[in-house]
Amino acid sequence: MTGIDDLPVRDELRGKSPYGAPQLDVPVQLNTNENPYPLPEPLVARIAERVAEAARTLNRYPDRDAVELRTELARYLTRTGKHPVAVENVWAANGSNEVLQQLLQTFGGPGRTAIGFEPSYSMHALIARGTGTGWISGPRNEDFTIDPAAAEKAIAEHRPDVVFITSPNNPTGTAVAADTVRALYEAAQAAKPSMVVVDEAYVEFSHRDSLLPLVEGRPNLVISRTMSKAFGAAGLRLGYLAADPAVVDAVQLVRLPYHLSAVTQATALAALEHTDTLLGYVEQLKAERDRLVTELRGIGCEVTDSDANFVQFGKFPDTHAAWQRILDRGVLVRDNGVPGWLRVTAGTPEENDAFLDAVRELMKEQER
Ligand SMILES: Cc1ncc(COP(=O)(O)O)c(C=O)c1O
Repeated sequence: MTGIDDLPVRDELRGKSPYGAPQLDVPVQLNTNENPYPLPEPLVARIAERVAEAARTLNRYPDRDAVELRTELARYLTRTGKHPVAVENVWAANGSNEVLQQLLQTFGGPGRTAIGFEPSYSMHALIARGTGTGWISGPRNEDFTIDPAAAEKAIAEHRPDVVFITSPNNPTGTAVAADTVRALYEAAQAAKPSMVVVDEAYVEFSHRDSLLPLVEGRPNLVISRTMSKAFGAAGLRLGYLAADPAVVDAVQLVRLPYHLSAVTQATALAALEHTDTLLGYVEQLKAERDRLVTELRGIGCEVTDSDANFVQFGKFPDTHAAWQRILDRGVLVRDNGVPGWLRVTAGTPEENDAFLDAVRELMKEQER
């Protein structure tokens, strides 16, 4: 049988594996940081209405610039981000992964590099690879915070074209202070200048405000967001960015024409009409996240402080064995490859109880 490496694939793709969080059919799935609550029925009905409307003109290409959707996203950001945002500041794509890919296609690419402070969201490195951008693994402290001095040093040394700052960070849940972002932005401008991409996929769950106001006066700063987490719409595939209008103009150079289908635009617009209801679930999830932190510590686990809808816990002498024991009890969590640590997404109270029971048993087993 022909394998990938028998094909004339690009050298940098040889022997590599695709992104692949396991999608296993188990009762409690807490491994991909999804929102556990299905969309409310009135919203499902509204989506059906808006999609039916869009279906009547599916013979035509969709609005290539997604103006109505970007206007509504700008309104949402203005309302929640403590900073006025206009349609010209916003761009949208199929998930924030596509937003990040477009940014790397525009500002990275062959002969260029990007840096991220690891452990962090593994797709940053994978999207870099897919776009031919060199990847630099920057440092983090033992407690998974970013040391501004060490990060500035790495930026000065490597002079990357793109700097990723993930706040709250995945898989650790760690938020980054605005002062750190300001300092890293200055370092990145002094070194190159380069683009600084703040990935705020989980910001709605944070104890801290969004870093959005930092875009003011910083034309090379981009805030990346998604409807996959707080809006409970991972299946929709809708991500967006806020930045200087020049950044929005620049990504037009690489985006495929009509990349956001009319069905996607209609669905996202319907979801945005129900923002308040959807953000209501965020409050419940934050409370459950805090409960997970407290109860895991009570059981005897080490837990990283979390500003996201997930919690990193450990430390296990054999991470994979611990993951498997929890799975044996019907609960799927994530082994992100951080030695000693696993990550659990905050689910419904019942799902979280099942998870906590599984960890309690695991800890008892380990004591024996
Ligand atoms: C930090 C971070 N950024 C971006 C994404 C991508 O989200 P999406 O492509 O669904 O918007 C994720 C998904 O898990 C993430 O953890």
